[in-house]
Amino acid sequence: MSQRTKIKALLQSQQTEIDVTVKGWVRAFRSNRFIALNDGSTNNNIQVVVDFENTDPALLKRITVGAALSVQGKLIASLGKGQTVEVVANEIEILGDSDPEKYPIQPKKHSLEFLRENAHLRFRTSTFGAIFRVRNSLAFAVHQFFQERGFVYLHTPVITASDAEGAGETFHVTNFDLDNIPKTDTGEIDFKQDFFGRATNLTVSGQLEGELGAMALSDIYTFGPTFRAENSNTTRHLAEFWMIEPEVAFNDLVDNMDLAEDMLKYVIKYALDKNADDIEFLTQRLTEEEKTKPQNERSEMTLLEKLQFCLNNDFERLTYTEAIDILKESTPNKKKKFVYPVEGWGTDLQSEHERYLVEKHFKKPVILTDYPKEIKAFYMRQNDDGKTVRAMDILFPGIGEIVGGSQREERLDKLEQRMNEMGIPTEELWWYLDTRRFGSCPHAGFGLGFERLVLFVTGMGNIRDVIPFPRFPKNAEF
Ligand code: 4AD
Ligand code: MG
Repeated sequence: MSQRTKIKALLQSQQTEIDVTVKGWVRAFRSNRFIALNDGSTNNNIQVVVDFENTDPALLKRITVGAALSVQGKLIASLGKGQTVEVVANEIEILGDSDPEKYPIQPKKHSLEFLRENAHLRFRTSTFGAIFRVRNSLAFAVHQFFQERGFVYLHTPVITASDAEGAGETFHVTNFDLDNIPKTDTGEIDFKQDFFGRATNLTVSGQLEGELGAMALSDIYTFGPTFRAENSNTTRHLAEFWMIEPEVAFNDLVDNMDLAEDMLKYVIKYALDKNADDIEFLTQRLTEEEKTKPQNERSEMTLLEKLQFCLNNDFERLTYTEAIDILKESTPNKKKKFVYPVEGWGTDLQSEHERYLVEKHFKKPVILTDYPKEIKAFYMRQNDDGKTVRAMDILFPGIGEIVGGSQREERLDKLEQRMNEMGIPTEELWWYLDTRRFGSCPHAGFGLGFERLVLFVTGMGNIRDVIPFPRFPKNAEF
């Protein structure tokens, strides 16, 4: 095997007049002379110059869009526009042909819908190359952020018997023969005969197990896949998504908000530094897309400006109750412009309300705290007012909720009382309650939806475009 130099390194090379081997896929071939070759290390292609008069015509014919090539040649300073260096080919080997009549990805603009149906090949486009390099950097930055702060990366189970969020949106896990499911005498499914001897499901959150870790290791985080069978066919929901869940002993809600804000800024800054070219490309892509919208729907800032704005401003922190007051008094509410009128205290905010607060009222990320207990999970710490809990949701422009978290109820009696009120079986969660029985302490954590973060940083509009192979209702292709 000959050495291969990545295209990113070649394009940055200070040296020219050197022999190189470059491998990649043809993005374009023009005038039988100029190949645009890409290997995914960068959005930029290297130009390979072919001496077509001295090249076998049969070989020239096989240099088609999508074909995989290995090129040996000389790296030289380029006289042409658009690149500083290029490779003059000595020898071209076709590693894999690509029939131009059949290859779906042509050197033209494809719709995102079309590319979703061809998700196995969409990595080969500039847009998706950029998205997945940014996604990679964000994932790495998440680990680096927590590792620098001494957090322990904890792997929580994917298969579980609990539904942490209590929303009942779980996928069953079973190895029963579905044509012959064992039943009890009373006609119910006999889970005792199932693989785990009980009903199990894919996890909706690693939080409850994460809390167990935090009650000994103090600072932990999880970063794993989570699954929700909610039938929301939206641009913000996936049935399989990745969540980052830090949990910290001795933290209160303010510490929790500080941690979340620091983390978000850290990972966004990391991607801005590391993926400057990709974010520049995605900024232009979004600006082009915005031009197709009516003036009043276009965003005031470019993607790059939005990201920098997020880094340079403190997130606005206010309570749910304060937010409701602002929404009630807002012009769109008074003029009945909201699809869902602001119902008043106690109801969940609609995403149009969240977006009004973030995009119109405060014009920056917002952290809402102290929600009514009725609309939040059982494990959140109850406030003395008897009505609200120490919850926090972080709302981002264009996204809505990106983080959900809380200070946890560490008092055994309060926790049991709330579980009983909400019909959550205390016997099944005996292990969770044990942490409140033995050395309980204040603690707090949150969950960041990783794809929603990638959406924000890439400026894409649909969550199905920021995960390699999205799972959503009626789709599990690839
Ligand atoms: O607000 P959620 O449901 O919170 C929890 O699961 C807590 N156990 C977290 C914790 O305190 N440790 O979900 C957390 C985040 C949301 O803010 C959202 O960003 C993302 O997960 N999320 C989804 N992302 C994509 N598709 C879905 N169906 C999502 N549901 C939630
Ligand atoms: Mg939530």
